[in-house]
Amino acid sequence: MLNSNSQTLSILALHGPNLNLLGQREPGIYGSLTLPEINRLLEEEGVKLQAKLFPVQSNHEGVLVDTIHGALGKHQGILINAGAYTHTSVALRDAIAAVNLPTVEVHLSNIYRREDFRHHSYIAPVAIGQISGFGVQSYLLGLQALVDYLRVTN
Ligand code: DQA
Repeated sequence: MLNSNSQTLSILALHGPNLNLLGQREPGIYGSLTLPEINRLLEEEGVKLQAKLFPVQSNHEGVLVDTIHGALGKHQGILINAGAYTHTSVALRDAIAAVNLPTVEVHLSNIYRREDFRHHSYIAPVAIGQISGFGVQSYLLGLQALVDYLRVTN
């Protein structure tokens, strides 16, 4: 990677509501890949970056909060597509702030080109950064950026 730090990183890939329906859900907006296919591509990218991915999907806000809490001491970083909770959930934002793990926010679609209610993210202020609008590439770029950040800062 970028420096001498060559330990294998552990990354939580957290997928929020309705992302279990990717592939069949509004493919014109979200593309045709299923969530298992996206997780597979993330895993392959992780191999190149020496990072092990732990994917979790839930439609339930509390489960997502619990999963973020559980990342403490287990994972070094979080890659998150919070789906619609991006725009509504103070609880998810607070959970990320509470565990204080480096987090990258990703979206398949460009949330700023869509409805006004999607323009605000509660996650963005507690994330290292956000990648939005590149389909599955948003996830892969997000993973690269997260690993890069962890290698440089650790
Ligand atoms: C999304 C964008 C959100 O606005 C939406 O609610 C989703 C998916 C995306 O990946 O483009 O569920 O996070």
